[in-house]
Amino acid sequence: MHAFNGKAVLKETHNFKVHLNIQFMVSYKELGLVNTKDMFAKAIKGGYAIPAFNFNNMEQLQAIVKASAETKSPVILQVSKGARNYANQTLLRYMAQGAVEYAKELGWEKPQICLHLDHGDSFETCKSCVDFGFSSVMIDGSALPYEENIALTKKVVEYAHQHDVTVEAELGVLAGVEDEVQAEESHYTKPEEVIDFATRTGCDSLAISIGTSHGAYKFKPEQCTRDAETGRLVPPPLAFDVLDAVMEKLPGFPIVLHGSSSVPQEYVDIINANGGKLPDAVGIPEEQLRKAAKSAVCKINIDSDSRLAFTAAVRKVLSDKPGEFDPRKYCGPARDLMVELYKHKIVNVLGSEGKAI
Ligand code: G3H
Ligand code: 13P
Ligand code: ZN
Repeated sequence: MHAFNGKAVLKETHNFKVHLNIQFMVSYKELGLVNTKDMFAKAIKGGYAIPAFNFNNMEQLQAIVKASAETKSPVILQVSKGARNYANQTLLRYMAQGAVEYAKELGWEKPQICLHLDHGDSFETCKSCVDFGFSSVMIDGSALPYEENIALTKKVVEYAHQHDVTVEAELGVLAGVEDEVQAEESHYTKPEEVIDFATRTGCDSLAISIGTSHGAYKFKPEQCTRDAETGRLVPPPLAFDVLDAVMEKLPGFPIVLHGSSSVPQEYVDIINANGGKLPDAVGIPEEQLRKAAKSAVCKINIDSDSRLAFTAAVRKVLSDKPGEFDPRKYCGPARDLMVELYKHKIVNVLGSEGKAI
């Protein structure tokens, strides 16, 4: 009986210690990560944008790190609320730490990797990421009334800045799905609000709405014209006049574009030819992103294109070889295709190649 009690106490003490460990704060600096401050300052001066790629699994992370290391591009690894739920936030954080070490192993001596919370929806989520080793967080109050967005963003900024963590805010509403929040229509950012918003919140960067949206269906067919030869949808241009007006109000302030996948038609075609069904999927043409990257837009978010590349490769292998059941045989080609995609974005669209030597 005595021995049993002793064990119970030991076990209790052990559990208590484990609990305490979980509560300990981890600074991103200990993990070898960087915040977005220098990245954005250099990107604005240099007329390029930093890629912000979402990841949910090992293959995506490997591909992002390989592409960034081989091109020496600074990179933002983004984790959404959905990714935290899917992959477990502890595991994701250690994966990001592993990413820094993997980058060095690939010959990138001084990797510039930021770990960023994508679409943080509350002060508590942002705080937990700051405490847990993220170097940057987004607080997305864009669906809130203006004053509430300001109050929430300011609260997150005050906490994050105590830990040298940078904060992205959002003003204006993007159409499409942002985690569980779905907006039918986009509402462009009002340029007349941005000075007040940036000054009162103290945010480090601002995501704006100029016609991009999340997912692989960025425009309804009725918003587009159709190419007579290919029959493919041709989307309307982004509202560069809104971007110009924002830049005039906030000269040199880092601007972020969400929903910036281009939805490459070659991936959509492979998916559709191998049992998938993505009719009329359409994204943002790359020339428009190139143009944006040369301006104060210094962070461009891409998630759907990686999902499409992954799915295209997996569908192709499984339909060519129906007997295949080793995940490495289809996740490997998926990873290769994602490396190719990320490099293409870095080199040919965002212009961030060689900016983190
Ligand atoms: O903004 C949306 C991102 O693509 C993340 O998507 O919430 O499905 O992970 P998710
Ligand atoms: P896409 O769906 O266009 O890839 O946008 C991703 C995004 O904005 C993540 O926050
Ligand atoms: Zn987004």
